Amino acid sequence: MTFTILTLFPEMFESPFGGSIIKRALDKETLTINLVNIRDFATDTHKTVDDKPFGGGAGMILKVDVCVAALESAGKGKRILLSPKGKKLTQQRIRDFAKEDHLILFCGHYEGVDTRVEEFMDEQISIGDYVLTGGELPAMVVVDAVSRLLPGVLGNPDSSNDESFSGDTVEYPQYTRPAGFRRLKVPDVLLSGNHAEIHAWRLSQRAKPPTS
Ligand SMILES: C[S@@+](CC[C@H](N)C(=O)[O-])C[C@H]1O[C@@H](n2cnc3c(N)ncnc32)[C@H](O)[C@@H]1O
Repeated sequence: MTFTILTLFPEMFESPFGGSIIKRALDKETLTINLVNIRDFATDTHKTVDDKPFGGGAGMILKVDVCVAALESAGKGKRILLSPKGKKLTQQRIRDFAKEDHLILFCGHYEGVDTRVEEFMDEQISIGDYVLTGGELPAMVVVDAVSRLLPGVLGNPDSSNDESFSGDTVEYPQYTRPAGFRRLKVPDVLLSGNHAEIHAWRLSQRAKPPTS
């Protein structure tokens, strides 16, 4: 799987992708991440990527010509604009994205992108009903959540089969040693060694996610 991330701030991705499971997957070449600086597609000597909104108003808007040139440089793939106006990201969408060969993630910034950029996208994705300064954190969220579903990325593939949102519930409670901590005890069934009972208990403990 290849991710191409179009951003004005490629350096923001160094630390999140420079450790742990994503770093290992990059080293093993299970996934590839291309970082493309949108500013490289500005055509004037000042490398201008944004301008004032027609009709007036606050902030600066990323220019359609620059954005589309950057987007088209990424080649074929599923084009996703990170946007608070987009469809809310769910584990089901993440599972769909994990089947793609190439995800192209476009990070807006400042006051956002010229609306015409949306015409060049396959979809728009929001990570929640709040406004961030840029699409970089949402892009990291997509890369992280998709990557851990790819074969060979997690040490134990079962980790992603039996976890929160693999159905419509969140995961059962998990414990590790010590069996007793202050007044908090691990349920006896988990110490029983009876796998059928443990399985039944876990099923009974799966819960609907909180709504807010
Ligand atoms: C400050 S926001 C622009 C907000 C825009 N003016 C609005 O009111 O909808 C700048 C960029 O951050 C990204 N962004 C902000 N919040 C987001 C969210 N909840 N989900 C996905 N992307 C988001 C988008 O790429 C957006 O273009």
